Amino acid sequence: MNGAFGAEITGVDLAALDDAAFTALAGILRDRHVLCIRGQAHLSPAQFLGFARRFGTVTPYPFGEPMEGLPEILRIIKEPESRGNFGGVWHTDSPYHEIPPSHTVIMGIDIPESGGDTLVADMTAAYEALPQDVKSRIQGLDGVFTATKVHGSAAAGLELGDVTRVADRTRADQEFRHPLVRVHPETGLPTLYVSACHMSGVAGLPRDAAQPLIDFLAGHVVREEFTARIRWTRGTVVVLDNRCVQHKALNDYPGLRREIHRVQITDGCRPTRRGQETP
Ligand code: SIN
Repeated sequence: MNGAFGAEITGVDLAALDDAAFTALAGILRDRHVLCIRGQAHLSPAQFLGFARRFGTVTPYPFGEPMEGLPEILRIIKEPESRGNFGGVWHTDSPYHEIPPSHTVIMGIDIPESGGDTLVADMTAAYEALPQDVKSRIQGLDGVFTATKVHGSAAAGLELGDVTRVADRTRADQEFRHPLVRVHPETGLPTLYVSACHMSGVAGLPRDAAQPLIDFLAGHVVREEFTARIRWTRGTVVVLDNRCVQHKALNDYPGLRREIHRVQITDGCRPTRRGQETP
């Protein structure tokens, strides 16, 4: 792992992690936003899931066929002959829920010899660096989040590697509002909550004002100084804090196979702005 934030962890066995060690890892995650834990190839899918569950409650992914026998796990596969990949644009995971996943936990299974890294961007640093007038402008605004452009009626022809989409995707056109500036429930710090591929607008703004604002914020949050890069190996386990991180899976390994396993976790908290009660 390389870049502006995140933490690389070695010398732990996630199948035998006592409570004190888990609390230490959770503390590092709170401060560094991403964990990249090496050397876990010995974990069974059930043990990987058991580790993920320590961060909260598993929230099923509504648009992909899950792993047989372990429906909490999504196998994200790209075969050598496939072109598009899953998660290949900057996004935060699944913000199109009333309570979006707080954490994404991923395990490297089959990793191409070169390529296939995942980029991450720090939404706390990105918010902090905004000009004051932009901070004031967006403070009270809600983004409108939907899966329509990825899985719904506006997603025609979009290839997502070899993740099999579920047949019934009517739910993908539903919209949910979340603050553009949310407060992280553990650090109390403001973070930007923007995911251009999952946004249809900004509540209360006409389209011709909302889209330029989304475009500006989407460009701002992924400036190089806010980013880091994860180089996968088989058995690397990554934990993303989606409340303050965006990510993008690079699609730079034509002719090679890549497989990762993903679990989404919820902390049960709706995104809230400063001063709002957490329900
Ligand atoms: C995703 O969850 O967006 C996929 C991440 C990856 O393939 O690295």
